[in-house]
Amino acid sequence: MTTRSPLPEVVRDGEVLRRQVAELRRRGNKVGLVPTMGALHEGHLSLVRAALAECDACVVSIFVNPAQFGPSEDFARYPRARDADLDRLADLGVQLAFVPETADVYRPGHSTWVEVGSVAEPLEGESRPGHFRGVATIVLKLFNLAGADVAYFGQKDYQQALVIRRMVEDLNVPVEVRVRPTVREPDGLAMSSRNAYLDPGERARAASLYASLCAAERLVAAGQTEAGRIRREIETILIDSGEAEIEYIALVDPETLHPRSAADGPTLIALAVRIGQTRLIDNCLLNAAIA
Ligand code: PAJ
Repeated sequence: MTTRSPLPEVVRDGEVLRRQVAELRRRGNKVGLVPTMGALHEGHLSLVRAALAECDACVVSIFVNPAQFGPSEDFARYPRARDADLDRLADLGVQLAFVPETADVYRPGHSTWVEVGSVAEPLEGESRPGHFRGVATIVLKLFNLAGADVAYFGQKDYQQALVIRRMVEDLNVPVEVRVRPTVREPDGLAMSSRNAYLDPGERARAASLYASLCAAERLVAAGQTEAGRIRREIETILIDSGEAEIEYIALVDPETLHPRSAADGPTLIALAVRIGQTRLIDNCLLNAAIA
């Protein structure tokens, strides 16, 4: 007979969450928060494991935030797997899952938005206007409701983590932000809820993102640091993999996201590529630890 772990307590009301976390903290528990949009995979779960290892209690939020999707993006078909998500969280021993309704998160009359400055502007900011405004607003709301000590984010969305860090510093939010490495499939594809959109041929081609980042890393290790040369190498690998539509290949400073002309110091290589209808992003850090 197998014993199932009890499900995490599912909280739908923000005020209830606030009270529960306040009570946990009053009793001396350090509380970790992992914000997610659900359809949980090993990337998300690595953040949950870190929170459980480093804190006394873990809150995972699951909310597909409409405000961070553009009008022609995939909000309606974004994967939703509530029961499977709660099972996974139960298996790990998560205490609280915050699963609010959209109508409660964005009440009638909602009109306050968080606009983060320069680090939110290039790359994803340019490709997805309004995206980081939606992300920063929901994450600040989650920080305010959960009142956690530590919040966990993935390097997979490097710029997002940088935007959150900037917001936390600029708005004096009392939370510590920790960023964890990207979890990958055996062929190197970064895990993502959006990988479910890929058909088998696209899925095979999607491994080229990571392969191209590895090739770039090898070039730099061999002393070829010129940005144009590295970009061409990445482009060749992506194009050779089949019909990949490249949105950007960027070599930037990992803190400011300003373009770099050579990877001769700390450098973030960030990619956004469309494979079929699916938009994928990935990145690697050279000569630097996660910010
Ligand atoms: P979501 O895409 O569900 O991701 C939730 C968290 O998991 C983010 O911090 C993301 O960077 C991290 N993550 C995703 N894939 C990962 C991987 N392969 N390895 C490591 N970490 C990974 O990012 C969002 O949701 C939303 O924008 C959110 C922050 C929840 C605000 O709505």
